Amino acid sequence: MTRSQQRNVILLGAPGAGKGTQAERMRDRFSLPHISTGDMLRAAVARGTEMGLAAKKLMDAGALVSDDVVVGIVRDRLAEADAAEGFLLDGFPRTLDQAESLDETLAAAGRAVTDVILLDVPEGELVDRLAGRRLCRSCGKPHHVTYSPPAVDGQCDDCAGELYQRDDDNEATVSNRLDVYRRQTEPLVDYYADRGVLRRVESSGLTPDEVFAAIEKILDRQASA
Ligand code: AP5
Ligand code: MG
Repeated sequence: MTRSQQRNVILLGAPGAGKGTQAERMRDRFSLPHISTGDMLRAAVARGTEMGLAAKKLMDAGALVSDDVVVGIVRDRLAEADAAEGFLLDGFPRTLDQAESLDETLAAAGRAVTDVILLDVPEGELVDRLAGRRLCRSCGKPHHVTYSPPAVDGQCDDCAGELYQRDDDNEATVSNRLDVYRRQTEPLVDYYADRGVLRRVESSGLTPDEVFAAIEKILDRQASA
């Protein structure tokens, strides 16, 4: 694959916008490695590493982990072989400094971000989605008690793993996460619009499959352009 055919994709959107839900479908359809900084940080928390313990305090409060830590994790991950011809970033970048670091890392390898897919969802819907979210402890698949309920109560549809609620999906932390998104992450919408790579997907009231159909259209069009 030539560099111009690469899909170097960022999924941008507020907490609960559906990044993880869409990333799972995009990974399978476009064979892109799904790189979620939230998942990587939660894995570090579960391993009980020093970095994980420090991150947990911030995550539980709905605050961001420091740019240095997250940029380092992503740089290492992007250096792995499966990301050499394309990637799907979920939850990164989240600040202008992170976006600039990513641009520098990619430019050093003669690469660039090709598509930033913004999942646009009104705030009331976000709160509803996060309150009802249940994740699989084994494979991470997101379910929702109302919008995508599991076939068997408390069990993952894909692997029958146990479903759980994230520690940061409580009311106080969600309100802080949304506030942090507005202040620190939303400026990235203009940052990527200025670079001509922003693709907005109005997701309100759409099912996950309908949102995915819109994303497919965008990425297929980019590849054939
Ligand atoms: P992270 O794990 O990235 O969380 P987030 O951005 O808050 O996003 P979520 O994972 O909550 O939502 P999502 O968009 O993936 O939605 P989902 O698909 O699950 O980050 C967690 C924390 O880690 C941060 O707060 C921070 O502390 C730290 N961190 C991570 N990255 C960092 C970084 N770069 N820098 C610094 N700190 C960082 O969907 C939500 C629910 O809605 C599910 O139940 C789903 O089933 C349902 N749903 C999905 N789509 C639809 C639909 N179309 N209709 C109805 N329901 C739907
Ligand atoms: Mg997620």
